[in-house]
Amino acid sequence: MSIQGLVVLLFLSVLSVSTIGSTLVENGSTSTTHHKSKGKRWALLIAGSNGYDNYRHQADVCHAYQILKKGGLKDENIIVFMYDDIANNTENPRPGVIINKPNGKDVYHGVPKDYTGDDVNSHNFYAAILGDKTALKGGSGKVLETGPNDHIFIYYTDHGATGLLGMPSESDFVYAKDLIHVLKKKHAAKGYKSMVFYLEACESGSMFEGLLPKNMNIYATTASNAEESSYATYCDGDPGVPKEFGTCLGDLYSISWLEDCDANDLRKETFGVQYKRVRSRTNESHVMQYGDMSHIKEFLYTYMGATPKTHSYAPFTASPSESISRTVSQRDVALLYFLQKVNRAPTGSHEKIEAQKQLRNEIARRKHVDYSITKIGELLFGTERSSKVLMNVRPSGQPLVDDWECFKMFIRTYESRCGKLSKYGMKYTRAFANMCNAGVSLEKLVAVSDQACSKKHV
Ligand SMILES: *[C@@H]1O[C@H](CO)[C@@H](O)[C@H](O)[C@H]1NC(C)=O
Ligand SMILES: *[C@@H]1O[C@H](CO)[C@@H](O)[C@H](O)[C@H]1NC(C)=O
Ligand SMILES: *[C@@H]1O[C@H](CO)[C@@H](O)[C@H](O)[C@H]1NC(C)=O
Repeated sequence: MSIQGLVVLLFLSVLSVSTIGSTLVENGSTSTTHHKSKGKRWALLIAGSNGYDNYRHQADVCHAYQILKKGGLKDENIIVFMYDDIANNTENPRPGVIINKPNGKDVYHGVPKDYTGDDVNSHNFYAAILGDKTALKGGSGKVLETGPNDHIFIYYTDHGATGLLGMPSESDFVYAKDLIHVLKKKHAAKGYKSMVFYLEACESGSMFEGLLPKNMNIYATTASNAEESSYATYCDGDPGVPKEFGTCLGDLYSISWLEDCDANDLRKETFGVQYKRVRSRTNESHVMQYGDMSHIKEFLYTYMGATPKTHSYAPFTASPSESISRTVSQRDVALLYFLQKVNRAPTGSHEKIEAQKQLRNEIARRKHVDYSITKIGELLFGTERSSKVLMNVRPSGQPLVDDWECFKMFIRTYESRCGKLSKYGMKYTRAFANMCNAGVSLEKLVAVSDQACSKKHV
């Protein structure tokens, strides 16, 4: 079978599976006199990926920035983490421009470059949340210098997995336990009045499920529950997305809240209303809510500001092209990207040969992870029980794993013996959690990993 045929088959089969901020005033002005509450609005936006195939995450973040900027937040109060390799990417058909929807406007202009390149990492992310300038390595030095009256909005978009979120470096993860620890520290330091956290990633619910306390004034929503993928959308080949893009322009949960903000008066819309709208548009996964639910009665305006009252809102109506956009599991976007590259390249060209090589490598990497995890499971639990143990999902309200150090250690151990999980292989992190829950020893994991990943299969 030709490689294209094979990939299409494979693809179909996987598819089935100290500064002055805008002062908060009840009526929306930014006057610093006569206010009812003296807090400021702060935001931290982060795209955890790099690479042109992940165009959409940085596009989502840039779009979020434009909304906050229009809402009156100042750049000094908006912290942006983005690798910044998209706008000038040689593969970008519109140099210097990033769009987040078919025929969309440029969202890249004006975006502050606080943390770019390798400065986008979990260490700086935690330091920025905690307002700890001394802990930063690189970057603009901007951190959440917030106090007990301030409102914080955090938005994160990237690949994720059960119990963790990705970062541009493949060896850097944001573990759920560590993120929750950072949020608890921020709360204990009286670092905010209330916080809203929007999170797009595969299995994003697992970052908060059974972990985010209800008494910390934090309200979170996630693109998916703890056991399912999240979805990319506006992919090339869809109406209005020219083939040359070769990638997806947005993620479904993200564009759902972003476009909802574009289309509505943020003074009048509550988080509860937005949640309902986003949940209904994000129909491929279950959009979830966690933490302190009292905040669903708050207006988006409290965190995101709003355009001047004279602004007229064009109600969002999905154009035919948008409503029939495909969605693609985030885990399969890279495959689609390599496949499109092969298809676009002229027959017999050097480009095509290169693209075919990349595609074959991606397929081989996926097969290797599939094979090795299956094998490890069988060696540990026997062929009969293996998949049941590895894929076990605990009842809702319970965290994924009890011993987080074990979880981290097991992932590191696997990667040192069998190679990086990388974006696709991250789908197996639940298996490592369940090995910890089942009491597998490190020694044993080392032995079975070596057996499963012996030279023969690598
Ligand atoms: C909003 O409140 C400020 C401060 O109280 C006041 O100066 C301003 O006129 C008000 N604006 C509107 C549009 O109500
Ligand atoms: C992209 O290219 C423009 C024009 O050459 C340049 O001004 C800008 O600094 C570049 N941006 C990045 C991130 O390299
Ligand atoms: C989600 O909505 C889109 C667009 O209306 C539709 O094509 C798709 O089949 C729906 N998916 C599910 C799982 O219902």
